[in-house]
Amino acid sequence: MYKERVRNAALWDRVSSAEDAAKLIKDGMTVGMSGFTRAGEAKAVPMALAERARTDPLKITLITGASLGNDLDKTLAEAHVLSRRMPFQVDPALRRAINNGEVMFVDQHLSETVELLRTRQIGPVDVAVIEAVAITEQGGIVPTTSVGNSASFAILAEKVIVEINLSQSDQLEGIHDIYIPSHRPMRTPIPVVTPESRVGLPFIPIDPDKIAAIVITEKLDSSSTVLPPDDETRGIAGHLCDFLQNEVKRGRLTNSLQPLQAGIGTIANAVMHGLLDTPFHNLKMYSEVLQDSTFDLFDAGKLDFASGSSITLSKEKYDDVFPRLSDYKSRLILRPQEVSNHPEVVRRLGIIGINTALEFDLYGNVNSTHVGGTHMMNGIGGSGDFARNGYMSIFVTKSTAKGGLVSSVVPMVSHVDHNEHDVDILVTECGLADLRGLAPRERAELVIAHCVHPTFRDQLRDYYQRALARGGHTPHVMEEAFAWHTRLAQTGSMLED
Ligand code: COA
Repeated sequence: MYKERVRNAALWDRVSSAEDAAKLIKDGMTVGMSGFTRAGEAKAVPMALAERARTDPLKITLITGASLGNDLDKTLAEAHVLSRRMPFQVDPALRRAINNGEVMFVDQHLSETVELLRTRQIGPVDVAVIEAVAITEQGGIVPTTSVGNSASFAILAEKVIVEINLSQSDQLEGIHDIYIPSHRPMRTPIPVVTPESRVGLPFIPIDPDKIAAIVITEKLDSSSTVLPPDDETRGIAGHLCDFLQNEVKRGRLTNSLQPLQAGIGTIANAVMHGLLDTPFHNLKMYSEVLQDSTFDLFDAGKLDFASGSSITLSKEKYDDVFPRLSDYKSRLILRPQEVSNHPEVVRRLGIIGINTALEFDLYGNVNSTHVGGTHMMNGIGGSGDFARNGYMSIFVTKSTAKGGLVSSVVPMVSHVDHNEHDVDILVTECGLADLRGLAPRERAELVIAHCVHPTFRDQLRDYYQRALARGGHTPHVMEEAFAWHTRLAQTGSMLED
């Protein structure tokens, strides 16, 4: 059966076991693996590597597109295989290893990793391990449910291991658009001018001689862990949809809006679901991960086209969508993440970026990554690529966390991922603050009035009043700016007595 998928017969003798293929990876190497938001990751070779590490300890630098599924980051972290990991992860075991200092995690804008590799500022990649639906007659690699950084890993690596996954739908072939930006400083513009623009090849072009091993697998991607919308996320979606409808009334947007990007996670997915009950139509997405909501919007006739770098679905949605993937094929493109997230394209298309904050402050600075200012949650992912360069940068979050003891709206964020200059709109279930064109003092008034949970409102207003008394363009009581975080660390709550 694999011979239908490995269409270059000269490569058939490279089929090997995962254990043998994993032997190509040696201690100290830098390995680039496919995988983006739990989709399309190489599965058998990393498992074999973790197994080998039990008796033959080794450490590698692992670079992927983004997070891996099938508990691979957990398995690799627990086998102590990872010395360095970039650019994104979402796994609790790996998070522990990062936060205790065992794994050096490089939290990176997702569009940037391969630019650094290509210019040899990091790397080089010794071995690439790429999951594929097929290898073409010419030796081109057809990725599966994600492109991520796979194309550049395969092009730049000295050796390539391909995992042919027989369970991944062969209907995926033709969905990918592999375009590699040319070298700088003579780079020509990336010719993506609409979300539908096809500008590259449907496979990763490499010299087939570099394919050192082919491993046949059948394990499916993990399902997404996104939770269904709840009252709070529905509230956030409601405020945002009302705001966008107002923008249409004011003649700033049409009912087709601008191309939409939605970040990972439960809240962003719920916000996209909210669009189902609006008058918006003929929408387009130019995003990175396409979640359940993308296909719900297709099915409701709201969405015309979606460009991303991966497809990550719940089990229920996967079982519904994948058997009829051909119905969606003409409306989907999966691109390398440096193109899906490219600042040039994001700015050109005028994307409305909707990403999630852990916390934001009075003035609109956003922390998406560090709990309590020190402990890594997941990483910045692509949020910065879109926030800085989009038409409108929206950040959403529930107003409180941990049963109401933590306020997600604070005097000063404990870590800054997106500074006030990149943030336009803030939304919680309490309301929405439109910060565009406002000075810091005006921003603070709106954040207090609309975003903070009522339990924390007086506390925040009191802080701001005392800050105002001290003056400044961005008033603060500096010795108290982190008092809410300190109180949380000491008492388990940000609430004053
Ligand atoms: N302080 C401490 N913890 C907080 C918090 C805060 N202010 N706000 C949220 N959390 C915790 C929640 O309690 C929850 O913890 P749990 O997993 O132990 O229950 C966790 O963070 C996730 O929050 P949730 O409300 O379920 O939101 P989510 O699933 O939408 O994820 C982010 C939110 C910020 C973690 C996630 O969107 C992310 O990693 N973003 C950064 C990357 C990004 O934006 N990528 C977009 C392009 S790839």
